[in-house]
Amino acid sequence: MNEPIERTDAWFGARRRLYLQEVGTRDGFQMESVFIPTADKIALIDQLSVAGLAKIEATAFVSPQAIPALRDAEIVLREIRREPGVVYTCLVPNQRGAERAIDARADELNLVISTSETHNIANLRMTREQSFAALSGVVSMSLSAGVPVNVSLSCAFGCPMEGDVPAEVVLAWAERFLSLGATGITLCDTTGMAYPSQARSLVNTFRRRFPQSGLTLHFHNTRGMGLANVLASISAGADRFDASLGGLGGCPYAPGASGNVCTEEVVHALELMGYDTGCDLGLLLQSAGRLPALIGRDVPSQLLKAGPRLALHAPPADFSQWRDRALARDS
Ligand code: COA
Ligand code: ZN
Repeated sequence: MNEPIERTDAWFGARRRLYLQEVGTRDGFQMESVFIPTADKIALIDQLSVAGLAKIEATAFVSPQAIPALRDAEIVLREIRREPGVVYTCLVPNQRGAERAIDARADELNLVISTSETHNIANLRMTREQSFAALSGVVSMSLSAGVPVNVSLSCAFGCPMEGDVPAEVVLAWAERFLSLGATGITLCDTTGMAYPSQARSLVNTFRRRFPQSGLTLHFHNTRGMGLANVLASISAGADRFDASLGGLGGCPYAPGASGNVCTEEVVHALELMGYDTGCDLGLLLQSAGRLPALIGRDVPSQLLKAGPRLALHAPPADFSQWRDRALARDS
């Protein structure tokens, strides 16, 4: 029997609401070789807080030796202006990170484990089972402190060192964390290996298997398939996406990793298609425009260069001369 067709766009009435979650201040900044001054991070997050994003991954409570770029996590989280309705989450790899994040009043912990054994050891220095054992303790500590937990499953669409990770393996890790009480799962395409039909299929299976769980998709645009993967996931019912301002991002422990799907490009495309992202594109573009000065280089965002589709340009200076000549031919 054919599956029921999802209502994927606005043609039939109310605009379908989609939720954008900014990860540039974590996934993006962790990759930068320059240290972005703490005050600039705070100012950027404050600006993003009023741009309509559902969630902002403000920083990561990781080892400052491993990721020096985010060594100011406590100050950032304590000093940003919290906008009601926006969830301020943080990436946490272990117990120490969880204690620091809870102490700094994170709204949510985003735990990270890889579905690939090789990537987990490279990134977190533990086997997946060791990570699970350690993170089980973190989940119970966090929940008893009243702080909800999301779990990001890295390499869910493939590992740059192992190749394909079977969907059943990904779903089994999701199930183990959900049964501990995690409220949401993020399927991470850490190095841009996902392709649209795979994304659609995994989202479909996940939603059928775990209908009560929150689901976020986290795509990288490493091979130019990021936005296509977002659209394919929407067609399978997903409504929550991580994205990175300017298209920054990447995992320092994954060969060939590059930027996330770009927040302003995703918002631009989805709004044109009739979806309601809740986001103010103008504000996002303003914030993205600050990035090159902050990180000392150009950013991948094509929208930042080209401008929105209907940001029109004046005709060339000699246009009227050519128009008059062209019209004269008809008279
Ligand atoms: N916050 C602060 N310091 C931490 C920490 C945390 N969350 N986790 C570990 N440390 C410190 C320890 O206190 C220790 O410091 P010391 O040498 O001064 O005593 C040092 O880091 C080593 O700790 P150890 O427990 O041996 O961990 P490790 O070296 O095996 O590191 C990770 C494991 C995963 C915690 C660390 O490599 C890390 O944070 N990596 C970053 C992962 C990441 O962000 N990846 C990209 C995003 S997916
Ligand atoms: Zn990522």
